[in-house]
Amino acid sequence: MTPAEQSKAARAICELAPIVPVIVVKEIAHAVPLATALIKGGLPALEVTLRSDCALDAIRAMADVEGGVVGAGTLLTPKDVKAAKAAGAKFGVSPGVTGDLLKACADEELPLLPGTATPSEVMRLLELGYDMVKFFPAETNGGAPALKNFSGPLPQMKFCPTGGINIKNAVDYLSLPNVICAGGSWVAPDNLVQAGDWAGIEALAREAAALPR
Ligand code: 3PG
Repeated sequence: MTPAEQSKAARAICELAPIVPVIVVKEIAHAVPLATALIKGGLPALEVTLRSDCALDAIRAMADVEGGVVGAGTLLTPKDVKAAKAAGAKFGVSPGVTGDLLKACADEELPLLPGTATPSEVMRLLELGYDMVKFFPAETNGGAPALKNFSGPLPQMKFCPTGGINIKNAVDYLSLPNVICAGGSWVAPDNLVQAGDWAGIEALAREAAALPR
């Protein structure tokens, strides 16, 4: 899968809804009800981070929930890419970029949303053929004003900012011409997950899904 094909597929997934929930599944029993609540609330694209023991099992379970597009986040190595693909992930997200990671995603045919934080990283990925990336960590790297400045010299690159985004500041990003969607964990907070408050999570998802962009 070429970088251009990966970006095209990643962009189509990013266009599904304004927000991609960033999820940490600590207990496998939470996986299906959590995915169901988020999807019912209007957020079909889900990023399950590989940061818990049951993350790959969670991807496997969530992949069967109707209407969802489940991806794997925190991809750091080719081993992570292979495991994510084998678990049924439809896309990958990484905090940054390495040559090995890009090659593994191409080989495994897994569309990647690679993490960037600087114009040089954006230029390098454009050179390679990517035009849809993550901006991370968004708020600490200058937030929406920084991305707005990226759009002047680098208008070809489209972003999914992630890190420090919430229901209040999301619209600042989503109103930019170079932002397709944003990622955030606030729609699946640990306290609601632990409490099994799936209706509460569905309500958060519905509010996020209604954000203008
Ligand atoms: C992450 O990798 O944890 C994401 O950037 C989510 O960040 P957030 O918790 O600030 O939404």
